[in-house]
Amino acid sequence: MKKIIPLLAFSTLLVGCTNQYESNNIEKDQMESHKVNDVHSYADFNKANTTHIFLDLVADFEQKTLSGMAAHTIQNNNASEIVFDTKELDISKVVTNDAGGEVNFSVGEEDEFKGAPLTVAITPKTTRVEIYYSTNPSSEAVQWLSPQQTADKTHPFLFTQGEAILTRSWIPNQDSPGNKITYSARIKVPDSLTAVMSANTTVAKNGVFEFEMKQPIPSYLIALAIGKLEYKSLGARSGVYAEPSMMKACYQEFEELEAMIDAAENLYGPYAWEQYDVIVLPPSFPFGGMENPRLTFATPTIIAGDKSLTSLIAHELAHSWSGNLATNATWDDFWLNEGFTVYFERRIAEALYGRDYSEMLALLGFQDLTHTLEDLPAEDTRLKLDLEGRSPDDGMSDIAYEKGYFMLRMIEENVGREKFDSFLKTYFEFFKFKNLTTEVFLEYIHDELPATQTMNLKEWIYKPGLPENCPVIVSDKFSNVDEVRESKRFVQTPSLTRDWTTHEWLHFIRGIDTSWNLEAFTTADGLFDFTNSTNAEIAAAWFEKSIRANYEPAYESLEAFLIKVGRRKFLTPLYRAMIETDKKSMAKNIYKKARPNYHFVSTNTMDELLGYSQ
Ligand code: BES
Ligand code: ZN
Repeated sequence: MKKIIPLLAFSTLLVGCTNQYESNNIEKDQMESHKVNDVHSYADFNKANTTHIFLDLVADFEQKTLSGMAAHTIQNNNASEIVFDTKELDISKVVTNDAGGEVNFSVGEEDEFKGAPLTVAITPKTTRVEIYYSTNPSSEAVQWLSPQQTADKTHPFLFTQGEAILTRSWIPNQDSPGNKITYSARIKVPDSLTAVMSANTTVAKNGVFEFEMKQPIPSYLIALAIGKLEYKSLGARSGVYAEPSMMKACYQEFEELEAMIDAAENLYGPYAWEQYDVIVLPPSFPFGGMENPRLTFATPTIIAGDKSLTSLIAHELAHSWSGNLATNATWDDFWLNEGFTVYFERRIAEALYGRDYSEMLALLGFQDLTHTLEDLPAEDTRLKLDLEGRSPDDGMSDIAYEKGYFMLRMIEENVGREKFDSFLKTYFEFFKFKNLTTEVFLEYIHDELPATQTMNLKEWIYKPGLPENCPVIVSDKFSNVDEVRESKRFVQTPSLTRDWTTHEWLHFIRGIDTSWNLEAFTTADGLFDFTNSTNAEIAAAWFEKSIRANYEPAYESLEAFLIKVGRRKFLTPLYRAMIETDKKSMAKNIYKKARPNYHFVSTNTMDELLGYSQ
């Protein structure tokens, strides 16, 4: 058994613990007085903080607005005002319980990243603040899709994306990951559409859907999707939502979902959120996946037909522990969410598909990390970030994911797997429904696993680049791919590749270098038809190489891909490759056609990349 943590020492560093989930005998006021400052939020939750939000909203697809009320239940430390984050919201009135009617409020100036503070006059007696408002049609969190932009093309669609600081553009709230809240909601939608949220559905009739999230979560995990949706159960506590025409493919792709949950629980303890569903969204969804509790939001680009891209679901599922239970206190600590999740994702993959498989994932990850280390300015290659005055989006690179992964793996290799697994189990249990900073993590691990005190964790965390004790990954499968590619033996004997998995193909394509002339591209494409691959990862990797080599036969498919798919991870390298190879006008022409299909998260990045202005 683990020894008991020295609670008092930790209590000065713990942050953001709320309501019924307070545990571990930590004195409440001690904790409350040490909430961490979040430079990306205007809220001062030491004075007054939300503990519960009730949303009562109408979704109007004609006006492209969500309008109604957000009622905040607050914990009030004798405050005379409470501050919320907002972004381009239209606020009509604010009502409090003790005033029994409207109270004074003011909205400050809009900051490019943070939006505007909403300051509401309250008294020490205020426990409920109702904010009446409407979203802006261009709300950054919300994408309103026309029927044409969906799979079925019959009904409109809406989805929200909260992480990192976009929730404030559809809900006025204290938008810091360090303040955990419960929420409930009542959402009215047009006839024949279904609303789903990152919560339990309690009522669903006549176009009104009611939800409840009983466990405390950070506000970036509040999420809503509305569309013509079907649901199919995949097991005792899992299932999939999709548009009707997508259902069969999605259902088959996620057949192993229940087994994934079991594998995850076997590793690091019980799944805390009762139900685990996945919704497959239209292709404009800007991420691969988003770990909204109880309901992962996913891109349709993982539906490859052979389950080969479902490690992405393992990743989002793993966030049910890392991120959703133990949450980064600020966006400077983002690696705590993603590094742990990548580690956990690969352990799930290993449990289900074996070590060879998970080592391929790790080596692809290492390749990504190497490129990121080359591309980013040194100061952005630290695990602990300093994002003051910047968009948190700037910190969301492979450093958090892969450098974070490799540090944890280094620890695993040094202390041994058994000890590390038991550490992680205790860690998730200790920090569940709480927040932590990188500093708390360091103190905690040095205490729990004293051997880590000599492993240079501070260098990993506070210094740029990759420390010397970074593990080295060897994959026999990838060495074989290298040999087949370099010797060009695949030309004479294409059957050498017969049993290759998606990840071997990705390694094959990534390894194509400038020694490949157009003839080599034509030969490989003739044999393997990469240009028309229905596997989005393979297609995207091939398109990037094609752009760099001016292999024109791929351009038509490339353009169709960029117009359809809005996943930023694919867009950035493709547009960048065009720019870097003197094809900026091609990039701009495609972007002009594609941009209306992209979510704000993607247009925001691509506008900057392409110097686009409306
Ligand atoms: N939480 C992230 C997505 C995210 C990160 C949204 C930062 C907003 C800001 C999610 O869990 C994620 O990491 N998605 C990856 C998938 C992956 C690494 C397997 C993605 O979307 O590609
Ligand atoms: Zn993630």
